[in-house]
Amino acid sequence: TIPVLIDQDGGIDDALALILLARAPQVNLVGIGAVHGNVDTYAAARNGIRALELADDHTTPVALGAPEPLAQPLHLSHPEDLLAAIGGTPERKPADDSAVEQLLRASHDHNGTLHVLALGPLTNLALAITADPALPHRVKKLVIMGGAYREKGNISEHAEANLWHDPEAADTVLSAPFADRTLVPLDVTRHATVTRMWLRRLARDTDRLWGRMAGWVLESTPETTLPTWPLHDPLAAAILLNPTIATYDHHPVAVTLLDEHRGQIRPTTDIDRPATAIAVTADTSTLLDDLLRALTSRIRQP
Ligand code: BDR
Ligand code: CA
Repeated sequence: TIPVLIDQDGGIDDALALILLARAPQVNLVGIGAVHGNVDTYAAARNGIRALELADDHTTPVALGAPEPLAQPLHLSHPEDLLAAIGGTPERKPADDSAVEQLLRASHDHNGTLHVLALGPLTNLALAITADPALPHRVKKLVIMGGAYREKGNISEHAEANLWHDPEAADTVLSAPFADRTLVPLDVTRHATVTRMWLRRLARDTDRLWGRMAGWVLESTPETTLPTWPLHDPLAAAILLNPTIATYDHHPVAVTLLDEHRGQIRPTTDIDRPATAIAVTADTSTLLDDLLRALTSRIRQP
């Protein structure tokens, strides 16, 4: 099995990605870190625990990470926390260790084999690298959902939310010597969208939480339009499981820290930076089926 640590910011698509990997037989989930972003860090931890519970995982530790970005004020994308509103109170509490301690420990326990999947702002990863600059050498593969590469951003004209929420942290991570790192940008995740038929099946077949969410998305979208529920984080999880579903550009990249381009990724000629594989196309044809299987493989009775 592949040891995987996920760092996440408590969004609905984060939860779906967690469930996908928690149900994947080839994955050994070694820990979940929580970070600010979609919701605050505490809510992100609770949502991580909720997601694991829905996958019948009652043991993977969920650790609290950084409550705010390294160098800018906290800004949450979804302070209303939809998962809390419809998800109930989780049974478990967060782990005693911080997300940074958990990541460093996992990198020693699984030295040379650990896979890290970052689904939120990169604050926890940057803090871990600062605490122990040798961390990247112990990580086999890093996959990051983040960035708007050739396309427009989703939180500003030029920036994607995960990078924009902590550009300094993102730049620290993208300049660190991870031998194998992949960026899964908006350019590909934008095309990983749900269909009405999938939502109807979800609404019918699964646990009430997802059923209600699917029903809610269906109801709030006119019949004639495509429902918008982009599966950003699940696509990054699917690419971690099977890198061959995507094609890549290979460039060293930097994150712009100034002006209105703050949070934008750009190729750089800085020879000290290792190349990042940037997904430019992705085959999303099996993602919906894989997700539906993960969500419905054991139905929890409401
Ligand atoms: C990313 O930001 C968050 O809203 C999502 O969970 C995803 O990780 C998309 O820009
Ligand atoms: Ca996320």
